[in-house]
Formats: sequence, C-alpha cells, structure tokens
Amino acid sequence: MSRISAERLIVGDTTVNAERLIGGDTGLSAVMNRARVVAASNAPVLLFGETGTGKEIIARFIHEGSKFHNGPFHRVNCGAIAPELIDSELFGHERGAFTGAVATRKGWFEQANGGTLFLDEVGELSLPAQVRLLRVVQDGEVVRVGGERTFRVTVRIVAATHRDLPAMVETQAFREDLYYRLSVFPIVIPPLRDRPADIRAFADYFAERAADRFGLRGVAVSDDDVRLLAAYHWPGNVREMAAVIDRAVLLGQGRSLNLSAALGQRPSVDATSPAPPGAISAERAAQPGNTVEPLDDVIRRHIERALEAAHGRIEGPAGAARLLRVNPHTLRARMRKLHVDWRRFRRFAPASQDV
Ligand SMILES: Nc1ncnc2c1ncn2[C@@H]1O[C@H](COP(=O)(O)OP(=O)(O)O)[C@@H](O)[C@H]1O
Ligand SMILES: [Mg+2]
Repeated sequence: MSRISAERLIVGDTTVNAERLIGGDTGLSAVMNRARVVAASNAPVLLFGETGTGKEIIARFIHEGSKFHNGPFHRVNCGAIAPELIDSELFGHERGAFTGAVATRKGWFEQANGGTLFLDEVGELSLPAQVRLLRVVQDGEVVRVGGERTFRVTVRIVAATHRDLPAMVETQAFREDLYYRLSVFPIVIPPLRDRPADIRAFADYFAERAADRFGLRGVAVSDDDVRLLAAYHWPGNVREMAAVIDRAVLLGQGRSLNLSAALGQRPSVDATSPAPPGAISAERAAQPGNTVEPLDDVIRRHIERALEAAHGRIEGPAGAARLLRVNPHTLRARMRKLHVDWRRFRRFAPASQDV
C-alpha cells in the first residue's frame, strides 16, 4: 500500500473522498495505473466508458493525486446547457450583461480555477460550445459576458464521455481540433461485465453499505449470489449494481439477499428496451447450469419481436397476428397468459389507432 498524498488518497485499499474505490488492484488496475501516471502532470485526460462505469470517481481520483488537489473539483454536465447560455456558462457574466443577469456569475473556468474542471458528457457539447471551449483551452483566458477584464485561469481538464468520440470526429459532430486537445491522455474504463474479478468485492461493499443505510442486519454474499451477479450483463454498470443490491437487501429484510427478485425488477430497462444480445435473464441465471430456456419465455420473446415489427398492432395486414400466422384471438389469449402488453410497442403509433 502506498500513500500518494496523506489522508486524501490511499492507494491499495483506495478511498476517494472517503468513498471506497473497488477493484483498483484487479479489474481497474490498468485504469488506475494510467490514472496515477497522468495525475501528477497537467495533461488533459479523456475518460471513455459506458454510463455508471466510474468515470466520475476516476476523475476525482486523478484530481486527488494531482498538484491541484487543494483547489476545487468542479463538475459540469456538458449535455445540460441551453445554447443561448453557452457563453455565460463557460465564461460567466457581469451583472446586467443581459436580461435576467441579476447578479455577477462566475463561469466554469473561474469556478475551477486552481483545480480540476470535470467536463462530463463532453460528447454532448454543441458545436458552438466546442468552438468556445477550444479557445479557452488554448489561451487559458476568459472574459465574462458584459465584462472588460481578462482573467487568466489555471485549470486541469478531465473530460468524460460514453460516446465514440473518434467516430463523432469522423462525422464532424465533434471538432477534430478540440478532440486532439482533450485526448492527450485517453483512459478507457471497461464495463462491469468485463470485470468479473470485482463482482464479489462490489457485492460485499454495496451489501454492507445498504444494510448500514437502511438500518438492517448485514447479510453475507454467497457464492450463488456472486454467480447470479456475474451472469448478468449490467447495462447500467456499477451504478445499476449498487441499486440492485440496495433492493436485494431491502427485499431480504436483513435475513437474506433477495437477488433474483431484485434483478427481476428493473422497470426502466425492461419496459423500454429489449435485453441486449447475449443478455441472460435473471431467472435463467438463477439456475446454474440451465442453458435451456422455458418454452413460455421463448414464446413470449417471439411474440414481442412480432409486436415490435408491427409497432404494437395485432390485427390487419401489417399486424403481429399476420406475421405470426395465427388468428388474432389466439394471439390475444396467448398475450394475456404470458403478460405481454402491446402498448409497450406502440411508442410511435397514434394512441387512437385501433389494434
Ligand atoms: N470502482 C468503484 N468503486 C466504488 N464505487 C464505484 C466504483 N465505480 C463506480 N462506483 C460508484 O458507482 C456510481 C457510478 O459511478 P460514476 O463515477 O458516477 O459513473 P459514470 O460517471 O461513469 O456514470 C457512483 O456512485 C460511484 O461512486
Ligand atoms: Mg457520470
């Protein structure tokens, strides 16, 4: 175990702002090595990773290990700026600079001055915002909207995205010059499904934390639990796993970890999108060694595929019944039995249209 900066950052059993960082010696060891190498320099860092993989926690780790660690860590969500407020967001404004500017406001760079500016979801920046950002990154100077004075800023930039930024550069959705400025030191954070060695440590950590938070007795994570967790594809990565374990702890009421129920209840994922290819349902994963799916599951999925193709329509020449070559009454009966709701597939069709 080595200490980089006393108290704030402990490598080995790593903590970032009193939050534990799991997998630093296993699934994230390559990431951590790169983060350590770059932390000490001023170089901009670009973090790639799916949502919930830990981009922000790594950005904070880099900040803590840098010479800017006594300065602020300022996170901005690049996807959430109104186009007309770009300049004011980036550079700040003087009071009265425009209607609604009732007070002086510091922009991102002034707020992060002497510290780290974390540009989260940088791929969402509009092209005009990219032009302005590039200018500050190049010059290190900002002028508030409606102001005269030029402020020199010293800011360490860490940007993050879940997008394929090089592909966006090719289609000219992202400026090449800005991309090269930001991507001096890229770090790719692997999805949780590619870090099987960390599953147990995450489960132990989140189970203990959940019991603590909810005032329940702590429950041990079993080998079966770990197998179940390892079989799942985690589209929401670490963030999703924390939520699933919270739910499993609550459902188990301090007596057990009710993972199969917790994994079965993912309304936001289940209701809007079919599982990604290769995904294993909780029920299947719950039975180790079982590679044959129950017939009802197969039939349900097949009906859902037809409904998707038919945009939720059951009858008529383009309806699901015709595609499946069954009588619409038969299809409706099957759907009732298997709890398939056609409305899930009617997102783009007018609500009044007859089924
Ligand atoms: N390696 C890790 N150890 C502990 N907690 C983690 C780890 N990676 C992610 N988390 C937690 O998971 C959640 C999502 O992480 P975050 O950094 O916000 O992901 P992203 O920015 O990539 O969407 C946060 O609550 C974070 O603390
Ligand atoms: Mg994030």
